[in-house]
Amino acid sequence: MQTPSVEESPGARREAAREADAADPLASFRDRFDVPGTYMDGNSLGPLSGEAEDAIRRVVEQWREHAVEGWTEADPDWFHYGERLGAKLAPLVGADEEEVAVCGSTTVNIHTLVATFYDMANGGSAAAADDPGTVLVNDLDFPSDHYAVRAQLRQRGLDPDDHLTVVESRDGRTVEEADVEAALAREDVDVLFMPGVLYRSGQLLDVERLTAAADDHGAYAGFDLAHSVGAVPHDLAGAGVDFAVWCHYKYLNAGPGAVAGLYCNREHFGTTPALAGWWGHDKGTQFDMNHEFTPAESAGAFQIGTVPVLAAAPLDGALDVTREAGIDALREKSLALTDYLVALVDDLPDAFSVGTPREHARRGGHVAVEHPEAYRISQALKDRGVVVDFREPNVVRVAPAPLYTGFEDVLDVAEALRDIHEADAYEAYDVESDGVT
Ligand SMILES: Cc1ncc(COP(=O)(O)O)c(C=O)c1O
Repeated sequence: MQTPSVEESPGARREAAREADAADPLASFRDRFDVPGTYMDGNSLGPLSGEAEDAIRRVVEQWREHAVEGWTEADPDWFHYGERLGAKLAPLVGADEEEVAVCGSTTVNIHTLVATFYDMANGGSAAAADDPGTVLVNDLDFPSDHYAVRAQLRQRGLDPDDHLTVVESRDGRTVEEADVEAALAREDVDVLFMPGVLYRSGQLLDVERLTAAADDHGAYAGFDLAHSVGAVPHDLAGAGVDFAVWCHYKYLNAGPGAVAGLYCNREHFGTTPALAGWWGHDKGTQFDMNHEFTPAESAGAFQIGTVPVLAAAPLDGALDVTREAGIDALREKSLALTDYLVALVDDLPDAFSVGTPREHARRGGHVAVEHPEAYRISQALKDRGVVVDFREPNVVRVAPAPLYTGFEDVLDVAEALRDIHEADAYEAYDVESDGVT
């Protein structure tokens, strides 16, 4: 896909952006969504599509019609809802259908998967092991990941400060794969747990390389794909990844707090999850109500309680849209949009800079635009109809999601940034954040 050139004159610049939009084969997908303003926050919460809304309505109607019989009589039935959506997601992450399940939240899935693999690395119980190794993370991770891993270490009677290996970023923006490899060589690591894309800078990590390195050092490899699923194609099975977690409310547009997803490599089917529950029991005998847990022979074993059908329904519709567009075409357009954004930010006054790696192989779906007044600029953008978010200390995250964003939208963002900076318009805003940004 052609990235528009950054022309000298404003008129020619806009013309080039419009031409690129006119040539965009994915342009019509925007009509499927209700997009509020110039929406660049789809890496936080994607907008509503007609398909997602219809899927919710369908489940509400099934509930009205069938009540409890919906578990078996709804079409498709609710009993296998998590497995069925997992199968529908599998091509997006490069997995077999049974290797993916839709359940829980990202954080709950981190609890159960990291704990399961940590125990497995220690003969089934890290608490009973003589000298358990560590869980390998990095200092730019999303905080919830560390809260969950630390909590699981404490649950096993271990001091997180002794059993967490934290790879330090060299520049506060990115994590070098070589530093992860060095930590694996230096420390006794049992589980590597890394992001696919860093939530702040948007760096895309090399999943295949990190998995191979973990494998070389006898560690399991798990990933948090919250910022890459739906934006970047993955090949989890091909890379030999052991487990992964992600959410669906960002690039997959499944709505606020939508049910999350997980992947478990089929090599590990049959393992009893650290947080077992009846919804992960073998489906054929779940209603025998035995007190002994028999895990499903699939990623579905990591489900805990009853699948929240209403909170999973929008994903059903939203996935139809993503699958129709195709993840490879979406990635191609995403790179063209972020290339364009990077070029436009380079052309802004020097106070702005790009905090995201420029190489395609190291960039996810959003761009970190850095500015000393990033917080107040993000507020001023919102008042101009440009929705972004702010991340401490100096990042405006701009996510031109390819399903509903065009090149002219990206140009609008860059022009709003220039105007706000040149007119010092951000000075009208409070320096204090009101909480959710
Ligand atoms: C990278 C990452 N991990 C974990 C989470 C937490 O997800 P949840 O609130 O769905 O548990 C988020 C939320 O945005 C995230 O971005």
